[in-house]
Amino acid sequence: MKTVLLNSNYEMPVLGLGTWQSGAGQVKTAILHAFSIGYRHIDCASIYGNEAEIGEALQEALGQGKGLKREEIFVTSKLWNCNHHSEDVEDACRKSLTQLKLDYLDLYLIHWPYSFGHGGEDFPRTETGKMQYDVVDYRETWRAMENLVSAGLVRSIGLSNFNARQIDEIIASSTIRPAVLQVECHPYLGQTRLLAHCQEHHIVMTAYSPLGSPNRGWKMDNEPVLLLEPKVVSIAHRHSRSVAQVLLRWLLQRDITTIPKSITPSRIEENAKVFDFELSKDEMAELNSLDRGCRYIEPLIEGKCWGGGTYRSGEWQLLCLPQGTAATTKTLKPNPNPATEGS
Ligand SMILES: NC(=O)c1ccc[n+]([C@@H]2O[C@H](COP(=O)([O-])OP(=O)(O)OC[C@H]3O[C@@H](n4cnc5c(N)ncnc54)[C@H](OP(=O)(O)O)[C@@H]3O)[C@@H](O)[C@H]2O)c1
Repeated sequence: MKTVLLNSNYEMPVLGLGTWQSGAGQVKTAILHAFSIGYRHIDCASIYGNEAEIGEALQEALGQGKGLKREEIFVTSKLWNCNHHSEDVEDACRKSLTQLKLDYLDLYLIHWPYSFGHGGEDFPRTETGKMQYDVVDYRETWRAMENLVSAGLVRSIGLSNFNARQIDEIIASSTIRPAVLQVECHPYLGQTRLLAHCQEHHIVMTAYSPLGSPNRGWKMDNEPVLLLEPKVVSIAHRHSRSVAQVLLRWLLQRDITTIPKSITPSRIEENAKVFDFELSKDEMAELNSLDRGCRYIEPLIEGKCWGGGTYRSGEWQLLCLPQGTAATTKTLKPNPNPATEGS
């Protein structure tokens, strides 16, 4: 698997397997299959609720006489929002390590730039049912992340869902620079300026939801579906490739690493076959032109994703629907299991 050198001096495979919403009884098989066909990078997070089963897969695949050595695999996990207090960071990291049955993580990310109340609940609520936030400065959290590196628990540290200003604040007060920024990125959300900012600071960008996250719980019936986007479909036909392969290739040609999720063996294989064809300059430009600032993952708007209920303003649809199409406010499908809504 092709790799990129991080500013921490460790190599990271440019393509990994996502595991959000990979359920019980699915994720272990998916990972073992991914390893068997050449994946060497797994993206995890404590909030996905499946690190223990991922640990079973890692235990089965890694070690003497088992085919893979620990150092051949790159494993990422993420610090959840209710563990931002500096005294909570090491415990949270150790908990992920225990579940994953690992001695160290290759990469540990601050999952989101804001913190939740820390009282044991992953999604703490106020008495009125609103999300209960905390006021921990993420620079304090970052210092605790740096300590994980000195303690040998983590090789590289990074950020997720941070914007350019927040990255700059971290850099200004850090002794270890973020190695990676993980954010949503696909042709509807090109992240061009953020990518340039990362590259200026030698931070590798990783694209999550590269296929448009079609299985997330708060999907709307009339949202644009990336996998059906006509321009991508037509480019895929031209290359005799799948739409997913074109979406992933577009990222890789922009020097963006990516972590498509699948539990389906044929798709896990398909998503890895993206190193033997090339999109032309014109095709790259055509895909770049699809950018409309559209986010599929927007979990912290009260009343929308984590809050359930009705969508507030139609703003998302206004941004995302093709020009000339009327935006509507819709009732969202409630997620049957809000505890899995961690993205
Ligand atoms: N840092 C963050 O805040 C954050 C947020 C979101 C996601 N992530 C990470 O990024 C990963 C990927 O993002 P995501 O899970 O939101 O969405 P995604 O990778 O864009 O899409 C995953 C969905 O696409 C389907 N799929 C996979 N390959 C396909 C193919 N070749 N053709 C058609 N459909 C295909 C999967 O189905 P099957 O599984 O049924 O095959 C699954 O339903 C996550 O799993 C997670 O690890 C991080």
